[in-house]
Amino acid sequence: MNDTATPRDGRAQARSQELFTAAKRVIPGGVNSPVRAFSSVGGAPPFIKRAQGAYLWTEDDAQLIDYVGTWGPALLGHAHPEVVEAVCKAAADGLSFGAATKAEVEFAERICSMVPSMNGGMVRLVCSGTEATMSALRLARGFTGRNKIVKMDGAYHGHADMLLVAAGSGAATLGIPGSAGVPPRMVEDTVLLPHNDVSAVEQLCTEQGDQLAAIIVEPVAGNMGCVPPRPGYLERLRELCTEHGIVLVFDEVMTGFRVARGGAQERFGVTPDLTCLGKIVGGGMPVGAYGGRREIMESIAPVGPVYQAGTLSGNPLGVAAGLKTLELIDRDPPYAELERRSARLAEGLAQHAAAAGLPFHGNRVGAMLTGFFRAGPVHDYADAKGSDLERFGRFHQQMLARGIYLAPSQFEAAFLSASHDDAIIDRTLEAAAEAFAAIG
Ligand SMILES: Cc1ncc(COP(=O)(O)O)c(C=O)c1O
Repeated sequence: MNDTATPRDGRAQARSQELFTAAKRVIPGGVNSPVRAFSSVGGAPPFIKRAQGAYLWTEDDAQLIDYVGTWGPALLGHAHPEVVEAVCKAAADGLSFGAATKAEVEFAERICSMVPSMNGGMVRLVCSGTEATMSALRLARGFTGRNKIVKMDGAYHGHADMLLVAAGSGAATLGIPGSAGVPPRMVEDTVLLPHNDVSAVEQLCTEQGDQLAAIIVEPVAGNMGCVPPRPGYLERLRELCTEHGIVLVFDEVMTGFRVARGGAQERFGVTPDLTCLGKIVGGGMPVGAYGGRREIMESIAPVGPVYQAGTLSGNPLGVAAGLKTLELIDRDPPYAELERRSARLAEGLAQHAAAAGLPFHGNRVGAMLTGFFRAGPVHDYADAKGSDLERFGRFHQQMLARGIYLAPSQFEAAFLSASHDDAIIDRTLEAAAEAFAAIG
């Protein structure tokens, strides 16, 4: 199939609609993760049959420019030939052993060499971002002997019970404040604070610092839309955690290997005690990881008393995809070009929105960005929720009609890949100019 063909109308057409109807009979809501149902933007979701580079192809044979990037993992573009080759080779040697392998040692060494908080430390592989955050917080509790954890309003750290309090991402999209099925006692040790608010953290630490096991934060929030840290915020979190013996956990499931080779901690120069990874670390396969300071990691079984396990952890296919992805990042670092092209896209979107007379505010950190349909800056979840969601929904539909596939929620980031070249950015900006004019 030709990668340079002009995108066609990606709004769900006959085949996707049929499949969605069939899916809803056997899968709750027709999808295996809620935001995929397009509830907040309307219309049926396009069903995808193939992806390559910056493009998706739908079951209706529409070609779409993809800014979802499988929700972040596709940093190098979809189906990078060397990653696919590595996975095929691993598959030929057996799909899963549930035993130690040489490749997982190489993978762990490479992760530890790239992520500052793991330099000289350790990492444990799991199968998803949810597992990584859940396990890191159990570890922080086991290590400190304290129970309370702190999370920020609008942050999403996966769907573990204790973290489903004021969660962003799909939960924000659906307007679900928490979740049915989470007994109140599961979240009574979860303290909720506004994001990006230094004084709220200072006050909590003064009052309860000696009871806090961990503060978990998305160093660049991505699940209320992209929200950069205010200057000094991450630094102050670091100081407070050190002062009060609290484990600082950066959830870099989204930002890891995206906003810089060493993630947000490298970009902002703040090193947490533990880091959670997912998405890019698996190169498109179901891999998560958590790691950091050696003395904390040595509390994990079988060395220490904190239990965590997984039948498919360190699965050879996931390890092959992740290892190859990290090798490719080091062989040909994509970050300078990603920065330049993402800046072009963000600036172009802001200009076209202004030309159409629309209230619009763009946030961007590296190759992750969100255009909020509101006038003022967005520093936290309350700001993000002040966006015009109905207008975002119409913009989304207009972009899809022009072959541009954006995340179907105002509370998500757009991701660029190394395959999003200048011609693709130009086409996106042309589509955006028309879409802004159409919804004005
Ligand atoms: C910051 C963050 N943490 C954790 C998760 C959960 O990861 P997973 O969906 O792999 O369980 C996500 C998912 O989007 C995320 O963005």
